[in-house]
Amino acid sequence: MEYNQYASFPKDFLWGGSTSAYQVEGAYNEDGKGLSVQDTKEVVPGTTDFKVASDHYHRYKEDIALFAEMGFKAYRFSIAWSRVIPNGTGEVNEKGIEFYSKLIDECLSYGIEPIVTMYHFDLPEALNKIGAWSAKETSDAFVEYARVLFERLGDKVNYWLTINEQNMMILHGAAIGTVNDKVSNVKKDLYQQNHYMLLAQATVMKMCHDLCPHAKIGPAPNISEVYPETSNPKDFIAAQNLNAIRNWLYLDVAVYGRYNPIALAYLKDRGYAPEITAEDLEVFKAGKPDFIAFNYYNTSTAAHSSLSDGVVGPEDGDQQIELGEKGVYKAVYNSYLERTNFNWEIDPVGFRATLRSVYERYGLPIIITEDGLGEYDELTDGKKVHDQYRIDYLSNEISEMKLAISDGVEVFGFCPWSAIDLISTHSGVKKRYGFIYVDRDEFDLKELKRYKKDSFYWYQKLIATNGEQLS
Ligand code: BG6
Repeated sequence: MEYNQYASFPKDFLWGGSTSAYQVEGAYNEDGKGLSVQDTKEVVPGTTDFKVASDHYHRYKEDIALFAEMGFKAYRFSIAWSRVIPNGTGEVNEKGIEFYSKLIDECLSYGIEPIVTMYHFDLPEALNKIGAWSAKETSDAFVEYARVLFERLGDKVNYWLTINEQNMMILHGAAIGTVNDKVSNVKKDLYQQNHYMLLAQATVMKMCHDLCPHAKIGPAPNISEVYPETSNPKDFIAAQNLNAIRNWLYLDVAVYGRYNPIALAYLKDRGYAPEITAEDLEVFKAGKPDFIAFNYYNTSTAAHSSLSDGVVGPEDGDQQIELGEKGVYKAVYNSYLERTNFNWEIDPVGFRATLRSVYERYGLPIIITEDGLGEYDELTDGKKVHDQYRIDYLSNEISEMKLAISDGVEVFGFCPWSAIDLISTHSGVKKRYGFIYVDRDEFDLKELKRYKKDSFYWYQKLIATNGEQLS
């Protein structure tokens, strides 16, 4: 749609940036922190572990001062569950509470709104040992952990996010580490894990409303609109299939309190469906989100696949798109889109499309909790980082978000990935996303000094003009 007049960003729009605990904090075993699955998992060869990361734990004051200098209105970070409850359940680590309390106070002292993710891929190792999310006990432990957060930190937090990218943990379990090797039917187990997470999430959303009536809470999946590869009606059905099992399955339960019908038909047919009791549906109905947070990096493209298909994904050996599934959809690269140096598709217009779809479907206010460009940044001899490619990427995304606002989509914040350089989930230090360069290499920690990239100054101007000055 083109308009005669376009909307501006709302006056109190939450411009900010995102991080997650295990990727930025370091101090993996300090001050009573228990180990998480990120500390115990096998490190991808050639990349670093998360033990020191960007050392945000010790340098958070310096980092937040830099965020304030950029003009951040919000900082989205996650709490490390095992820093607060080292064994996942039971005793609370006072030092952990103290750290997050101070971090939040530091944000508030600059007028930065803390947007707090409760759980971002870093399950306490102690819970992993009892079966991770395959065990109902983990779901109960999450609810107990959430209660501690609401009771101890709730008075100063206005925005909570439950679980980061639950859908990626289920769909890409092998890459993220949620696959349970001890079970015979891995996919059935993953969807059982999913069900327990959904129950925990709904319980926690209700608890938030009961204990912290001033606060708002929402889920934080990774959402990407799905295109059909062609106008062949069969490709369109494939796109709907992927939309149902990748996106709507998760948000339909959170918002409508029921499984998406197409996703459920698929789960039942393949023998992956969890048992859904009448009590479960009551739990879903009682806990509703106030907003939807989602992470966006790119769209997906699907082609028809039949049950007899051999290949359901691209054969280029470096697949950075969905996996494909026989009789459901074939994952294809979109020939209209360029890709990053890490082979991720770039699709700003798809960002607008995704925002429109989510808002049309759920009608809830939206905040973007991740979006960004992972690149090989270079620190020059003069200690500069000329990341014009990141500026271009983000200004295109923001332009399209502005168009979505003109389309009537209610967006109240944008927190790109990442506020500061951190360790990429799969690619180590070499894949950087931040506005602030952290001077360390994969294995040489150097002094971990911070340097402002060109994108820092660009974002500072953009925020100062409330999104008007894009380039
Ligand atoms: C999101 C995650 O999926 O993508 C982040 O929430 C992650 O934790 C980000 O870092 C980018 O992915 P990657 O693999 O480039 O680090």
